[in-house]
Amino acid sequence: MKTEGPVIEIRRLGPFEIRRYSHFAAAVDLTYLAAGTSIAIGAEADGRPAGLALAHFVRPTAVRVAALTVEEPLRGKGVGSLLSAQLEVELAARGVILADVIAGNPHPFLQRQGWQPGGRLATVYTFSERVGESPWLRSPVNSPSYELFPWLGHTLADRQDALRLMESDTVARCLNPFTDPARVYGPCSHGIRHAGELVGWCVTHRVISGVLHYSSVYVAPRHRRTVAPLIVMGESIREHLRRSEELPTGVQAVPPELLEIERFASKRLAPWADKIERLHVWWKSFAARKNCGESE
Ligand SMILES: CC(C)(COP(=O)(O)OP(=O)(O)OC[C@H]1O[C@@H](n2cnc3c(N)ncnc32)[C@H](O)[C@@H]1OP(=O)(O)O)[C@@H](O)C(=O)NCCC(=O)NCCS
Repeated sequence: MKTEGPVIEIRRLGPFEIRRYSHFAAAVDLTYLAAGTSIAIGAEADGRPAGLALAHFVRPTAVRVAALTVEEPLRGKGVGSLLSAQLEVELAARGVILADVIAGNPHPFLQRQGWQPGGRLATVYTFSERVGESPWLRSPVNSPSYELFPWLGHTLADRQDALRLMESDTVARCLNPFTDPARVYGPCSHGIRHAGELVGWCVTHRVISGVLHYSSVYVAPRHRRTVAPLIVMGESIREHLRRSEELPTGVQAVPPELLEIERFASKRLAPWADKIERLHVWWKSFAARKNCGESE
């Protein structure tokens, strides 16, 4: 180990040991280890958990890396390289030929480790109180043609309108407003009607503490180039800003297929966002390496 600091130990973790590393991965990702469908490697610094590499089998010869992370104070000291090298040894021993991981692009560490950036999954806009400085949010738009209402008060007729929109428009299907109903955050979720008919929604979820996800922001095609998107999303963000002490962060992930939503976010959110991250699926093939070895 190249540091003069804590003693680093890299080793495979069993199903019970992973609990000590639970702060390095999403809870859902920690549950697969006991079933034998995951491999976990821990990095310990003076006996204390300091990093985790966790990969799930998605096929007998392919894994998705769910976590490859080192605690912040220890970064840049070679621990990440040790973790990823040990993970690759374990994967190779099990005959894995392909791994992927979802991460931002650019990502110098992954690039250095020989990973290739694949398709873009989403552009993630992270924003806070500063978004309130944007002129479009400071002067709310009103229009007698549109009726805004709290999403949690949607009627059966609204539901039927939403289902019809989802049937006719793939974008609406991607932005299904009925997903994860238990975690919908009422004060910042709105629907919008035109002539009594539902034409859009902004549905937000509280998933982790302090963060509001703008999970589903949609306006029907005929109403996109009107004030409708500004009304429905504007009202949700303004309500969010009133609660910024409790919910300091807002996040909206926009997949590249949703061109108009991406255009809206890049014009209305990007200039005031704290962070804009392009999430890609990165991949690494181990097959070529094996073949090279075999042919030598
Ligand atoms: C990515 C991560 C695991 C790397 O761990 P680490 O212990 O800092 O990595 P190392 O010290 O082994 O770095 C290896 C090399 O990559 C470089 N590197 C690491 N992170 C870098 C970064 N963010 N930007 C530029 N270079 C970076 C280091 O300079 C080092 O180069 P060197 O060998 O020439 O000095 C760590 O930064 C991390 O936890 N990041 C957040 C989570 C993440 O992005 N995980 C990866 C995808 S899931």
